[in-house]
Amino acid sequence: MDSNGCDERNSVEGYSRRDFVRYFLAGSTLSVAALNTLNASVYQSIKSLNTEYVEDESPDGVYWNAVRKYFLFQDGVIMMNNGTVGPMPKPVFNTLMKTFKVQATNPYDTYAYIPEKIEAVRRKVAEFINADPEEVAITRNTTEGMNFVANGMDLQEGDEVILSTMEHPGGTHPWNLKEKRYGIKIVYVPIGLPPASVDEFVAGFEKSITPRTKVISISHTVYISGLISPLKELCKMAHEKGILVLADSAHGIGMLDLDMKDMDVDFFATSPYKWLGAPTGVGVLYVKKEHLDKVWATLATSGWERTDSARKYEAVGQRADALSIALGEAVDFQNHIGKQRIERRIKALALYLKRELKKVPGVRLHTSEDPYISGGLTAFSIEGIEPQNVVDYVREKYNIVIRTVGNKEKGTYGLRVSTHIYITQKHVDMLLEGIHHLAEHRV
Ligand SMILES: Cc1ncc(COP(=O)(O)O)c(C=O)c1O
Repeated sequence: MDSNGCDERNSVEGYSRRDFVRYFLAGSTLSVAALNTLNASVYQSIKSLNTEYVEDESPDGVYWNAVRKYFLFQDGVIMMNNGTVGPMPKPVFNTLMKTFKVQATNPYDTYAYIPEKIEAVRRKVAEFINADPEEVAITRNTTEGMNFVANGMDLQEGDEVILSTMEHPGGTHPWNLKEKRYGIKIVYVPIGLPPASVDEFVAGFEKSITPRTKVISISHTVYISGLISPLKELCKMAHEKGILVLADSAHGIGMLDLDMKDMDVDFFATSPYKWLGAPTGVGVLYVKKEHLDKVWATLATSGWERTDSARKYEAVGQRADALSIALGEAVDFQNHIGKQRIERRIKALALYLKRELKKVPGVRLHTSEDPYISGGLTAFSIEGIEPQNVVDYVREKYNIVIRTVGNKEKGTYGLRVSTHIYITQKHVDMLLEGIHHLAEHRV
């Protein structure tokens, strides 16, 4: 790497555009056995690294540079936006290709064992988030999970649902639909940019509760501000008042070491293709066992009527099963590195970014520096600088992908940066160099 860290523009750790295309094509032509061998060799390398770098706490170093090589990046793109969709590790891509290939070549026999494989994925996901397999549904995405819960609950006209003012459309519209159709009432609670404390956050929701409140439906990972909502404390307060909590954690799985039992959340929807490295189009919905009978299935074929398993939300007919099976591989990939290690690394990079951003004149952080209420999403604005100019400049100069986020009228407009495990401190420094340049020239 040169002093700018710029060799990664055209060849990320040895992966050029040509290599990428070759790898992509190979994925569909290699035999199943060859793809299995490729995955085994990646996991063997990670195991060796784990043995050698047991105590590696640093944001950079041999460990993370090696991990970066296991992701498929085109043309040195420096992916610092894990919204919409994040990149896939190679073993996940291999499993996706392998499964499609097996299905394409022998669909009839494949269907004899697909259900068993899906059950194995369910068990893996459940263990990964500390849930019971019966509480886990494999959906298409967070939006679908949020809709399944909002649509499936029996609420009466005048019943109230509390949302924050920073919800994603995928978390707001399911309730808007219910409001229009059944006359429920939505109450919006403002949350700080960032909130001053966990207590302040929880108190804001507590104040808005009335005898008609049935559900608090909020983002666990707030896409506008990068806040990680203190779900555990919120659920404790809500449960004392008999209110259920639905969390939109689109970014949570793969970024945070999730524990459903510890948070005691009632419903939790997440999109594993943002931070977990699963393919687009596969999601996870957690429904606490005791509530399975309170949430009707929205789609129905045989199985919708069960009340003992979240499988009832999968009674949707044929699916692209390769996506679900690749989800299992994405869990395996992260398990080889370790959930705690991943969260620690992501937060260390985010904290470094925030501390350096504060040195740039005019920067206002929209995300807390407290690692308890922040994660891998860092949002900020720079006085007098149009956010889109920053997005365009760093893409053009460094091939760094970030995004604008928020709303001018609401004072939330700014930039958002994701710092996932394949990002190095050098990449963050390149971004900061670009931001310093723009801030100095006020463009
Ligand atoms: C907080 C939040 N909720 C919901 C969504 C929608 O995600 P999906 O399209 O995967 O359902 C997003 C997308 O980025 C998000 O950031």
